[in-house]
Amino acid sequence: MNETREFSRTTLEDLCEELQKNTSIDASRNKTEVKRGLRNSDGSGVMAGLTKVCNVHGYVMNEGEKAPVPGRLIYRGIDIYDLVDGCQKEGRFGYEETVWLLLFGKLPTKAQLEGFQSLLSSYRDLPEYFAEDTILKAPSPNIMNKMARAVLTLYSYDDNPDDTSMQNNLQQSIQLIASVPTIMSYAYQVKRRYYDNDNMVFHPFKDGLSTSESILYSLRDDSSYTREEALLLDLCLILHAEHGGGNNSTFTTRVLSSSGTDIYSAIGAAIGSLKGPRHGGANAKVTEMQNAVKQNVKNWEDEEEVRAFLMKIARGEAGDGSGLIYGMGHAVYTMSDPRAVLLKKTAYPLAEKQGFGPEFRLLETIEKLAPDVLAEVRGIDKTLCANVDMYSGLVYRALRIPPELFTPIFAVARMAGWCAHRMEELYTCRRIIRPAYKSVMPEQPYVAISDR
Ligand code: COA
Repeated sequence: MNETREFSRTTLEDLCEELQKNTSIDASRNKTEVKRGLRNSDGSGVMAGLTKVCNVHGYVMNEGEKAPVPGRLIYRGIDIYDLVDGCQKEGRFGYEETVWLLLFGKLPTKAQLEGFQSLLSSYRDLPEYFAEDTILKAPSPNIMNKMARAVLTLYSYDDNPDDTSMQNNLQQSIQLIASVPTIMSYAYQVKRRYYDNDNMVFHPFKDGLSTSESILYSLRDDSSYTREEALLLDLCLILHAEHGGGNNSTFTTRVLSSSGTDIYSAIGAAIGSLKGPRHGGANAKVTEMQNAVKQNVKNWEDEEEVRAFLMKIARGEAGDGSGLIYGMGHAVYTMSDPRAVLLKKTAYPLAEKQGFGPEFRLLETIEKLAPDVLAEVRGIDKTLCANVDMYSGLVYRALRIPPELFTPIFAVARMAGWCAHRMEELYTCRRIIRPAYKSVMPEQPYVAISDR
């Protein structure tokens, strides 16, 4: 199964040369004639639709220029700070309430919430033989890859997969939201056994647990966790549940949904999008980058030494060579990402208690120095802040969650936002998303093969 069949070096070099000759597009035309990355010239996103699901607010326009403001994240009209505060004040889990809010547009009553919690709890299990046939027999070294494949496979376990009516789609959405934590945990256990030569531990899901408790219960060998840990993971799920219609994976969901395709195709594609290192995959990349800093910087408290290494990362001479300082920057936020602010504040006590204090402070140093470094090396003069991924990886490590699950946990949480946006697309837009590409390829005659 692991066998990769590589082309010979010369074949590959020849093919790349052929491709390279015919694919380059004049960068200046790309900049002037195209809304590259679907961005306007001022850096704001091209307006692709209206939504009631979420507002991501990171700047105001002042005389045609973007003026930085503190970031705000608003789920269905409710500020994320208030939503989190409401649950934290009462010491209760908030992810299930957030899912309801995102799907239905209003906070649930106590009775609605209790009913919804038990509905989710009763759908954690996968269809009969699904785990054996789909996960155990076809492991993947990458959990996001396995999750996307598993979600696509659920199509064939559904008697009515292509019915996009509200009733059917809502039922499919709730079942997916409930069962992806199970898919993630099983995929991880199988990966551990198959690729890491470790033990595989399956705990049957326990009724009545919140989503975050279910995750910790299923991942830990002895199933034990503290309430403080479960509440911190619950906060991570709330903060990752939704982020507007324009982020890459949600837009992917909307693009696919606009074609009228089934939910499994749309969500499978969204998982593929989230896996990318510029999107959800950045949380694992931050840890990778932090490890590189830890290995190359002797004194983490010496800002000059950290700065010198960040310069190397920004020049593409260190880290993964991309020139990106992961965990920094955002398409919308400028002064602050409220998710990073909330995570940092809530996670610090547990991180400190678990001995992660120095690493936490190293991330703070990176956050402080990166804007200057990027301005100097890359000429990026916009206000840059730490994004949610800067601190989420460290929080997961403090929760003893392995790095290969950082992005999958993001996907588990975001399932709520994807489903809410899919329904909005299906029931309010009703037009296939279809932007344009201008052809810049000169015409050429078809030449008979004997004459080429
Ligand atoms: N490191 C290096 N370069 C960065 C950067 C970073 N952290 N953040 C922004 N930039 C660059 C962009 O690549 C872009 O360069 P280009 O004009 O040569 O393409 C320029 O700065 C302006 O980017 P901007 O419009 O502010 O952001 P964007 O919308 O193109 O990209 C991100 C947003 C999130 C993809 C970008 O900030 C990034 O790659 N950050 C690092 C990865 C990350 O943490 N992702 C998690 C997002 S929650």
